[in-house]
Amino acid sequence: MSSFTPNLPWGAQVHQSYVQGLKLHWKNAVYAQVAADAARQPAADAVALEQALRRDSPAYRLYGWLERHLQQFKYLGRHGMLPVMLGQQSTLTQALDAAALEQPQRLQLDAGLPLPDYYTKSDFHQHPGGVWSDDADAFVYEWAANAFSFSMQDADRPYTWLARYLAERFAPASVLDLGCGFGKLAIALKRQDSRMQVTGVDLAAPLLRLAHLRSLEAGLDIRWLQANAEAVPLPAASVDGVASYWLFHELPVPAMHQVMCEALRLLRPGGFFASFDMYTAPGGVAGECLHLGHAARNNEPYLPGLIATDPREAMQAAGFTEVELVQALTGAPAAHDGGALAATRTHTFTVVIGRKPA
Ligand SMILES: C[S@@+](CC[C@H](N)C(=O)[O-])C[C@H]1O[C@@H](n2cnc3c(N)ncnc32)[C@H](O)[C@@H]1O
Repeated sequence: MSSFTPNLPWGAQVHQSYVQGLKLHWKNAVYAQVAADAARQPAADAVALEQALRRDSPAYRLYGWLERHLQQFKYLGRHGMLPVMLGQQSTLTQALDAAALEQPQRLQLDAGLPLPDYYTKSDFHQHPGGVWSDDADAFVYEWAANAFSFSMQDADRPYTWLARYLAERFAPASVLDLGCGFGKLAIALKRQDSRMQVTGVDLAAPLLRLAHLRSLEAGLDIRWLQANAEAVPLPAASVDGVASYWLFHELPVPAMHQVMCEALRLLRPGGFFASFDMYTAPGGVAGECLHLGHAARNNEPYLPGLIATDPREAMQAAGFTEVELVQALTGAPAAHDGGALAATRTHTFTVVIGRKPA
């Protein structure tokens, strides 16, 4: 099956390529100057450092302005991705409707599913209307996640790495991907082992419809289920592994705890839960300042709660054992605190892993 691609007019391609170039300038040159300015400021904590940088560092003022507004340049205006995709919404909907008719048993949507307030009250990543309102949202998110990964490098690599790491280490026969979006991790898992039963769970029907289209195009048998990861309508002790990728920074801490407890319920004894996210912000006060600034500037209201939580303690509190935090892309042990500020602006990717007691 050939891959369905939305139409990206030439004007939008030029505009978006300009925004990408500006983002690279922001994450390299502007960030480097901010890091140098921060190193010269003796500040007791992240709030004091933020105030000092705002006062004394033109680079920091530019950095903050670009961090907030580049997202808006991406989504809004004549060549923003939202108007571009909304302008072809009927074609996008037709493509998803046609996919929904193929292997319909693999796509289980729940039109009556209540969406939590923490999900609907904040525009995810400044994406106006979030990722759950209509079909255009799913294509906007897919495009943004691939063209603007936070590292601005190969957007698929960490997904492929995590899928291979989990498949080789645990050899699960079945895995649930909680907060699966349009299916990047679930598809990577299925590609690792075609015998693995993979189910993607998400709140957003448009994303699941797109995930279904993409898995059909790839010839992969994956089930997509619209549900809240806090209460998944599947039996207890029914899967070997549960994974999540970029889910927990979207959740308030009590909801994160509930998802961990739900993962424990769903797992067979001895099963694993692995969650990829930005659990660490290396670089001491400067790292914390930039991380909290990112949360404020990019509509990430729950990120401060995540960074204040030790993920290993949270996993143990939910009942997991053999809990460890590992660096993504290497699998080496990671510390929740410590480490140097990165050379260019990026998030530090880590994975917390725990086992359900056998
Ligand atoms: C940052 S996105 C990551 C998507 C995907 N894992 C990826 O890496 O491409 C977070 C995802 O979690 C979903 N989500 C947020 N809260 C959820 C919840 N309580 N239950 C299920 N999905 C949720 C969102 O709809 C979104 O697709």
